[in-house]
Amino acid sequence: MTLLDFSTIFRDLHPMVIHFPIALLVVSVFLDILGRFRAENAGLKHASYILLLLGSLAAIVAVITGDIALLAVGGEQSPIGKLVAQHESIAVPTTLVFVGIAIWRLINQRKGKDISSSNLFLALELVGVVGLLLTGLAGGNLVFTYGIGVEGMKIP
Ligand code: HEM
Repeated sequence: MTLLDFSTIFRDLHPMVIHFPIALLVVSVFLDILGRFRAENAGLKHASYILLLLGSLAAIVAVITGDIALLAVGGEQSPIGKLVAQHESIAVPTTLVFVGIAIWRLINQRKGKDISSSNLFLALELVGVVGLLLTGLAGGNLVFTYGIGVEGMKIP
């Protein structure tokens, strides 16, 4: 018996990557909030910018692997498809919010402008973080409440 069973790799890609957008984006927003009280600390803004770009890319990867996971558990038309759709309906708009503000910040950064202290930017970041936490909650319930993708306990 080995835990390094690569036949499950496509099913398992989603749980392997989802921690990245959650961690990177939550820390990015936290650093932006901290940056409001430490305006002189350019390092905070730079770190939050890099984390926003990486986290947004990771969120896109999470959406792609989520769609692969959905196929692996029977697809949209399967009995659990409707449950997964609830998770997806929060995940996709949340990803769009972060990708949108990442592009907005990237364009302005290239012009030498910092938009991280704008109130609209912070409001969108907070909407994104709430969406991210709800996405994680719904995803966790798919697995731990409804057992989606779980084969059951097998004691060797
Ligand atoms: C930012 C995007 C997303 C995040 C952060 C995310 C997060 C999560 C989390 C935290 C879980 C629970 C995993 C576990 O505890 O092992 C999960 C499960 C799941 N998610 Fe997502 N998700 C995202 C997008 C999507 C999308 C777009 C779909 C496609 C419909 C999807 C489909 C699933 C499925 C089917 C599961 C059940 C477990 C599995 O088969 O991997 N997810 N997700």
